Amino acid sequence: MKVLGIETSCDECAAAVVEDGRTILSNVVATQIPYHAEYSGVVPEIASRMHTEWISQVVQQALDKASLKVSDIDAVAATAHPGLLGSLLVGLSFAKAFAWARGLPFMAVDHMLAHLYAPRLKTINNEQLTMNKEERAENSNPDYPFLGLLVSGGHSIICKVENFDDITVLGATIDDAVGEAFDKVSKYYGFGYPGGAAIDKLAREGNPQAFNFPMPSLHKGDHKYDLSYSGLKTAVINQLDKFRTGPAPVGGDRPEDIAASFQKTAVDILLRSLLRAANDTGFGTIMAGGGVAANSYLRTALKEQQGLHCIFPPLELCGDNGAMVAGIAYCYLARGEQSDLRTTASARVQFYKKQYP
Ligand code: KG4
Ligand code: ZN
Repeated sequence: MKVLGIETSCDECAAAVVEDGRTILSNVVATQIPYHAEYSGVVPEIASRMHTEWISQVVQQALDKASLKVSDIDAVAATAHPGLLGSLLVGLSFAKAFAWARGLPFMAVDHMLAHLYAPRLKTINNEQLTMNKEERAENSNPDYPFLGLLVSGGHSIICKVENFDDITVLGATIDDAVGEAFDKVSKYYGFGYPGGAAIDKLAREGNPQAFNFPMPSLHKGDHKYDLSYSGLKTAVINQLDKFRTGPAPVGGDRPEDIAASFQKTAVDILLRSLLRAANDTGFGTIMAGGGVAANSYLRTALKEQQGLHCIFPPLELCGDNGAMVAGIAYCYLARGEQSDLRTTASARVQFYKKQYP
């Protein structure tokens, strides 16, 4: 079954064709980064306008790259939530119209669950994917349940994953998302846009011990697995002098050192809660997803954990893409489900909310 997957929840206009939930036949991601860069953040109105202008061409490219015609597509899927409402509506409406016009099954999917599905995807020859064959084979099909780490620009979630569509939130950020913290620190210091990739790159040349930034004290009771980034953000932006471990350098602090120290603390906050959850639940497998899963320090630090099997999507599939949408949609369709064409988009999702006793 060939599923066309469309993703327009934020600033990537993306479409892909995936066969039987696994094999990527094409994966087109048209990024709007240059158009938002001058504002150092995504401007919702610009994003939805550009999706409207681009979506037909992006879908056509996805078909062309897979050497397929419209009549070869068996089902259509799109992200319905969460995200920027205007942007979501463009991809969702396009997908619904496509499905209706062709009389095809339609599936509306959740963006974060789709991120969690990304490590299961492969290309025909595994070319373009930054993982070797052995790594991919052992990564592609872990048994449920396992721990999930969902980290993006809008969400930071540690969850128990019992099926592709069944997660229970164990911990979540109580303020900013981790990706948002990367973006805000980068914006403040002018390190580049988008912030995560810019900081990751700068940090490679920096000293992670140059600043000893504070970790949030969230270790008790209901907050055992929660996360918090507003304290770190304030420290990096407003209290740099307070946390410098050596004398202030002549000519000012090196951007590389600020980036490396911030990145280390941001990831250590994630690791602390995640490893606590792994220890308490006894799960030996962790699957990561979302844009921040591309972070090199996070990937290295988690892979070095003894006794834990950590699965990451290949770098190309960490950020937003249509392949993860088509992939997860196949799982619903294979179970005999499909979405009603009246399904609409929503900016937020209730089931991401942690249930406190
Ligand atoms: O999943 P994604 O592409 O879009 C959302 O669903 O939000 O995630 C985007 C987030 C941004 O905050 C971006 O700065 C962050 O992922 N990001 C990174 C890296 N690459 C992207 N954060 C840390 N290190 C990276 N290498
Ligand atoms: Zn995303």
